[in-house]
Order: sequence, then structure tokens, then C-alpha cells
Amino acid sequence: MNAPATEIEPSQQLESVTEQPAKSPRLSLSTANNALEDWEIAFRKWLAHEIPTTEAERVLAKILESPSFPGSGEVPFAWAKRRLQEEGYLDLSPSGIKGYLHRFMDDWMPPMLRVLLRYSGLAGWGKRQALDLRLNTLPVKVRHWPQELNGFRILHLSDMHIDPFPELAEKLADLLRPIECDLCLLTGDFRFAIDGDSEQVLPQVDRWLPEIRSRYGVYGILGNHDESALLAPLAERGIRWLLNEGTEIKTEKGANFWLLGVDDVNHYHAADLERAQQQIPNDACQVLMAHSPDLVDEAAQADIDLYLCGHTHGGQFCLPGGTPLLVNSDCEKKCIKGSWSQGEMQGYTSVGIGCSAVQARFFCSPEVTLFELTSAS
Ligand SMILES: [Fe+2]
Repeated sequence: MNAPATEIEPSQQLESVTEQPAKSPRLSLSTANNALEDWEIAFRKWLAHEIPTTEAERVLAKILESPSFPGSGEVPFAWAKRRLQEEGYLDLSPSGIKGYLHRFMDDWMPPMLRVLLRYSGLAGWGKRQALDLRLNTLPVKVRHWPQELNGFRILHLSDMHIDPFPELAEKLADLLRPIECDLCLLTGDFRFAIDGDSEQVLPQVDRWLPEIRSRYGVYGILGNHDESALLAPLAERGIRWLLNEGTEIKTEKGANFWLLGVDDVNHYHAADLERAQQQIPNDACQVLMAHSPDLVDEAAQADIDLYLCGHTHGGQFCLPGGTPLLVNSDCEKKCIKGSWSQGEMQGYTSVGIGCSAVQARFFCSPEVTLFELTSAS
């Protein structure tokens, strides 16, 4: 029931949302005994600077009653930040030109694309390519990977966005059925829309999720399209969430490694890699699930050994040869899709399974990836 023993303060982005007093409110979790009550008091004071006090009480109550945060009894700051945005109390959208572009991409581009595809006659071709789901099997050599676990198979699914696309859910189920893996990782974006009802995802998830056969379980993180309302129903279906947390994967061979997951960095600004790494011993092999490649530099500096992500969809609409027309990430070009490395850290950006905006892809077939890990030493 203890809150983390680190001092956390609102990010600069958060401070810029509303006008701040001369001295910014600071949220300190390193109080005398780190009890949840102390966290509440500190957070209540901080909220009072951000929104009217009566509303702050209501918001705080909602955050604390969230049943979904994985059972620790604590309420980390990054989680509160996500929940505040989900409840509409905080808007961390970029301002200026970048904000305008975001709104254009979210609000105007989907209907424009639908019209364009329909009247150009390209809709059917784009849909066929969106259904051209492939399994990519790749060897990957990982630093610190235990020799005893050479050949360990990690199945990676990202950006399912599958609720309005039952044909794709069926394709995915068919593809997954014969696969046996040691670990399955889901790196976010279960839902197609950015907001609205989360429950609509479940009927399509129920088509493919039961087909996964993974010896050490199925782990997941949330993407920028996902809300915390998804956590409980998908946990009931067997997904173990790692939201700014790490867990040791103990194998029957006696060799272990650590699996970490961070929350979404692009929309909710809720990733906290430092927190996820809190309990990891020195020299342990660390495999990180992140929704997007936007944390690559931070992860490489934090000694992550393998970084698995999605989010970019590989561009989704590409020129012949696969060059993306648009990319929704500030990452380096090398990280837009496929295998890459940063220092000694190996990484892979999945082009994902589903689609954003419209059910179409061009020169960018969707993928499920199966990694076979071996030690780099
Ligand atoms: Fe996505």
C-alpha cells in the first residue's frame, strides 16, 4: 500500500495547461511514511491550484476509486495524469501549429480520406492490403539475454484497432491459431477511435485473444487510443498489465529476465520508465514494451536491452517501396518501422495490425511479429 519513495512533480507540460502561481505546486510523494493518505493530501493541494476546489474533490474521488490500476493500492502521478485527461479535466494537446495539425489529423483527415478513397476507386484496393496480414519471424540478438533461454519466442502484436473491422479480427485469429510462443506482448491501441465507448472493442478481441498460446502469459500496455476502462475487462480475459511497472519473468529453465511496460507517451504523456525500473537488479536483461518509439533515447540511456513498440503503423499509407507519406511520431527515421538499434539496445517498431482513420493501407502490409531471442554475447 506504499506510494513510491520518489519525489514527483508535475511536468512542464502540465504546468503550462493553466496559469500557475509564482511558485508552482509540487507534488511530493516522499512524505514521512509514504502512506496513501499522504499522497491524497499532497495531490489534493496540487489539484486545488489547477481546478476549483469542489471539482478537485470530485476528480480526486474518481481517480482514487479507479478500480483498474493494477492492485498496488497506490496512485502514481503518471496514472493520475492519465485519468485526469480521460475525465476531461486536463488537456495536454500541443498548441500552435502542432496542435492545429493534430486536430486536423484527428478530426478532418478521416472523413476526407474516406471520401477520397471512395470516389477515387482506391477503397477496395486499400482494404485488401489492410487485410493482407502477415507473420514476420525474426531472430534477434539481445545483450544480457541468458544463454539458457536461447530460442525463446516472443510474439508481438501492436495497434490492433480492430473493433470496426471484423474481417481483420478473423484473419488475426486464423494467423494466431497455429503459433506457440513463450511470451506474448501487446503494445497498445486496442481501440479504433480515440474516444467513446471502450466496451465496443471486446467482441472483436474475443475473436482473437483466446487463440494466443503463450507459455509465460500475455502482457499488455495501453496506447494513445486506449482508455483505462479497458483494463479490467481485458484483465478478466487474461492480459496482465504493466503500466509503468516491471515484472520478473521466471522460466522453467531457472534463467530469468525482466519485462517492463510504460504507459502512453504521445497523447497522455503518462510514461514513467524510471518507475518501471525501480526494482530491477543490476545486469538483469530488460525487455521494454512501449507504445511508440518516442522513448528510444531515454530507454537506451536507461540500459534497456530490447525495446518493442508500434504506434507509427509504418506510415499506413506509403509509396511503392514502403516510404511513408506521413508519420505520427517524432522518432528518428530508422525507428519508423522494423528492426533498429540504438547503442547496444535492440529495437523493433511493428507496423501494427489494424488501421487508423480508414480501413485501408497502401504498400504497408499489417504484421504480427515472432521474435526468436538469443544472447548477443
Ligand atoms: Fe495505432
